[in-house]
Amino acid sequence: MVDMTGRTVILTGAAGGFGRAFTRAYLEAGAKVAALDVTSEGLADLASEHRGVNEERLLTEVVDIANFEDCSGAVERAARRFGGVHVLINNAGLGMGSVRENHHVDLIGIDEITPEIWNRMVGVNLTGPWNMTKASIDYLRRIDGGRIINVTTSFFTMLRGKFHPYGPSKSGFESMSAGHAAEFAADGITVNVVVPGGPADTPMVSDDAGFDRRELVPAQAMTWPALWLCSSGGDAVTGNRYIAGRWDLASSIEENRAHTEAPIGWPDLAEDPVWPGGRPVE
Ligand SMILES: NC(=O)c1ccc[n+]([C@@H]2O[C@H](COP(=O)([O-])OP(=O)(O)OC[C@H]3O[C@@H](n4cnc5c(N)ncnc54)[C@H](O)[C@@H]3O)[C@@H](O)[C@H]2O)c1
Repeated sequence: MVDMTGRTVILTGAAGGFGRAFTRAYLEAGAKVAALDVTSEGLADLASEHRGVNEERLLTEVVDIANFEDCSGAVERAARRFGGVHVLINNAGLGMGSVRENHHVDLIGIDEITPEIWNRMVGVNLTGPWNMTKASIDYLRRIDGGRIINVTTSFFTMLRGKFHPYGPSKSGFESMSAGHAAEFAADGITVNVVVPGGPADTPMVSDDAGFDRRELVPAQAMTWPALWLCSSGGDAVTGNRYIAGRWDLASSIEENRAHTEAPIGWPDLAEDPVWPGGRPVE
């Protein structure tokens, strides 16, 4: 059990499937949680789930992460109310279901994607986490051991045909995570990616997909590597990605790391650039 007492977690997409699981897990670990989402009904529902139990440590706020002013305002208010920011979880995302519900069985090609759909999905899935990181970074620099946890997706999905703009927006987010891990290391801020590893049991995967929901990755699985990353065991862990669907609570941390951990992105492909004078500046 990780003790998060006194620490503030800023979480996006808090009203969704993973968001609810993250909110519960971090509140149970003693953290103060600023739960952000674009849906006021979803947030009202989330708040009522925790009414009377951890209510004083939960702040809900309607935020469109594609809008930088929304993000900076929400981060400022959370930091003022709870005293700083210790963890940022960039979890909000727009799936292909926002284009068409039955997209899993009838894939969506370029003819159905309008420039508005493209811009909105990239705005939420790529610009959104950048906005939140930009808005939070000075707060994270002020404390010891800041954490950023980013939720991207499986490489299969990133490369899949007829899965645009979702796939490319998430691969952009994946490479941003690698770059931010390198950039923020000097500030003592860790940046890691957590993904389910396959379709998960959340509203993003509709019943139209035809999956047996018992075979989907449970939303709660995302919280296991995420919470561990926030423990002292995660102090020096940065630049990694974890497949939550392979995390096993019955195994040790070392075993779980061996089964689920890899570097963010595709670093081996970047090892040997053709570069004037030898190597680029790190
Ligand atoms: N469910 C899966 O199979 C799966 C697989 C891989 C990755 N993911 C990623 O996990 C994350 C969480 O997804 P989920 O499965 O819980 O889906 P979900 O649809 O249940 O939750 C996503 C949440 O993000 C919120 N959101 C959307 N646009 C927003 C915006 N502009 N500003 C703020 N909040 C916004 C939604 O309102 C929703 O509550 C997403 O980034 C998703 O891409 C999901």
